Amino acid sequence: MKSINNTILLEDERVDGAEKVNGKAKYTAEHKLPNMAYAVFVTSTIAKGSIKNLDITKAIAMPGILDIIYYANCPAVPGYNPIAAERPKNVSEWRGFKVLYDNKVRFFGQPIALIVADSFENANAAIRFVKAEYEVEKFETNFDKARLEPANLKAPINYKRGTEKKFKEQAFFVEGEYNIPIEVHNAMELFATIAYWEGEDKLTLYDKTQGPKSTQSTMARTFGLVDKNVRVIAENVGGGFGSGLRSWPHVPAACIAAKKINRPVKLVLTRPQMFSLVGYRPQSWQKLGIGADAAGNFIGISHEAISNTSRYEDFREGIVEASKFLYACENVDTKYSLLPLDLSTPIWMRGPGEATGCFALESAIDELSYKLKMDPIQLRIKNFTAVNPENKLPFSDINIKDCYAYGMEKIGWKNRPTIPGSLKENGMLIGYGMSVGVFGAGKGTASVRIVLSNDGKLLLECAVSDMGPGTMTSMSIIAADAMQMPIQKIKFKLGDSDLPPGPSQGGSGTTSTVGSAVDLACRTLQQKLKEMAIQLAPAFAGITADAMEVKNEMVISKTDANTKIDISALLKLANQEKIDLTIASNGKTAAQLKFTSNSFSSHYVKLAVNPKDGSIKILEVVTTGDAGKIISPKTARSQMIGGVVGGIGMALTEKLEFDHASGQITNASFGAYHVPLHSQTPKTDVWFVNKPDVNMNEIGAKGIGEIALIGFAAAVTNAVYNATGKRVRDLPITPEKLGYKTVKA
Ligand code: MOS
Repeated sequence: MKSINNTILLEDERVDGAEKVNGKAKYTAEHKLPNMAYAVFVTSTIAKGSIKNLDITKAIAMPGILDIIYYANCPAVPGYNPIAAERPKNVSEWRGFKVLYDNKVRFFGQPIALIVADSFENANAAIRFVKAEYEVEKFETNFDKARLEPANLKAPINYKRGTEKKFKEQAFFVEGEYNIPIEVHNAMELFATIAYWEGEDKLTLYDKTQGPKSTQSTMARTFGLVDKNVRVIAENVGGGFGSGLRSWPHVPAACIAAKKINRPVKLVLTRPQMFSLVGYRPQSWQKLGIGADAAGNFIGISHEAISNTSRYEDFREGIVEASKFLYACENVDTKYSLLPLDLSTPIWMRGPGEATGCFALESAIDELSYKLKMDPIQLRIKNFTAVNPENKLPFSDINIKDCYAYGMEKIGWKNRPTIPGSLKENGMLIGYGMSVGVFGAGKGTASVRIVLSNDGKLLLECAVSDMGPGTMTSMSIIAADAMQMPIQKIKFKLGDSDLPPGPSQGGSGTTSTVGSAVDLACRTLQQKLKEMAIQLAPAFAGITADAMEVKNEMVISKTDANTKIDISALLKLANQEKIDLTIASNGKTAAQLKFTSNSFSSHYVKLAVNPKDGSIKILEVVTTGDAGKIISPKTARSQMIGGVVGGIGMALTEKLEFDHASGQITNASFGAYHVPLHSQTPKTDVWFVNKPDVNMNEIGAKGIGEIALIGFAAAVTNAVYNATGKRVRDLPITPEKLGYKTVKA
């Protein structure tokens, strides 16, 4: 494994940073096509039932209205046909709620009609003139109530190794129930789609998505088109956090409208619609027990979970996974069931189920540490394992103990009181807390086109998207490192399904997957250059490729630095303007599959609780990542800080609220759904082990997107316990949950 050449990386800037801050970078809704029409949804005002009559007569006569599309006049969509035998063979049934298809209402705020107009203003003005008459049905949106009835639960998945509920027989055990409300991704950029048909069978989409290839394939399967006739462009994505990992109903809606009126159509969701139409972290209930012997060895872990899904689709995530393998423990049992409610379908939200599960697991370990009168970090070290106890494979690398050492030192762990509520500073109760996060580190398939021009410029292309973490930058760094050439001469192009196929950006997999393909493409190019030099440059006659290297834009002999040729000169010699290769990188090799790979994190919080009113101020955060080699230090640090902000939101502020009498979300705005304020996000120290995981992939880099958030909420609740002696297992923590009454002004 070679190290990063620091002379190349001195300019640690985001390669797309300037364009993003000066406004040149275009996001989906900013595109404007000739003759474009504007569409808006009319949404349901009941949670469940059917539409007896939808009166559009008044609305359609409004100025500028081109069409109002709803179940009664919606053109047939091949993928909407539920009968497999009737669908053309390249068509799959649309997964989930079929927008504009039938008169059924499945959740409050469901689109029931699409108004298409010559302007956004005219489209909006017509919304209130569309009148729906409903046949209302009984519905349920109340998770806390519905989960108590066992008949409401479905699709349980059980796991057991050793003896079930063994934890209860131990000298020291804890058991607790944990509740996390629905949280919403709420990326800054609104979801938007611009659909444009060139004839019957060719569709172009500008779409906010985390996966241009995934959107391409979904829309091709839905409308019965060949993949290459669907182009999806998502050059810049203003945040996703998981919400862009599938195509939601607004995407086919824009396509249907564009086809029906034979004009490009732009459909942008409103901020309130971002709370109900593009997924959310499902509400969850968990019961977790851990039992240990007197020395602190974990003997049994039991983890039960329920999370909500919609009535029309099952969504399941990794809530109970970490409990199976993060610590050494012989007896583990888990059970995970779904609770369908009359809501839209949830989806992965940053850290997904693992963030939910690690909140419970990392809280319970903290609780157990007090019972054992043992330091919680020592307790974790005591139960450390280098072999995954679930699949028995060794971790490709695990350096979590280095994270503990750094975090303890940096947060001042030695000042942590062992008796909760015993430390005061300036009249405030002070607490320290920590937690661990873990997420799978994968490596999938990706193709990269690499083009080296005779002016020395290097272009790389892949149909991945970048929802914000800085993929263009990290891929450019990987290429600069592999080619040993200046990053300024490299351009990485992404965000277009026409480019060589790449993965969706999700599951912390982009750097490993696309980065490995970039690395392979560079090495293939270097091999090609060496072969060309041997063939064409007399100086290299008789030298083997192994004895040569490519660096500083030259092909050079390893043994004689005077035997060299400029790459541009070599291309001229070959009479070639450029070398143009497309290289496919596969998933893990047989050698890499002998290991199990994860990224790890640990988080440290020092906070103050005001004893008068229970308000919490986080004073300091240290967050550490064990994710192999860090490719792009600046953007990696930003990712970790972003995870901390998300974690503070999860711990202290975020909760989707419902009026269960109507099934309506009551806080669908940034004014009422609180993401952390700048003043709530303290100084954050970010540290990485930064050691290449050589067993994982060729570049030694694992993902950090999820581990930045996973576990964080528990560091906060653990610190609150340390400060007050109050264990909060229901997020978010409010003064009421600490026993304080809210004083109304
Ligand atoms: Mo992430 S929840 O895999 O976008």
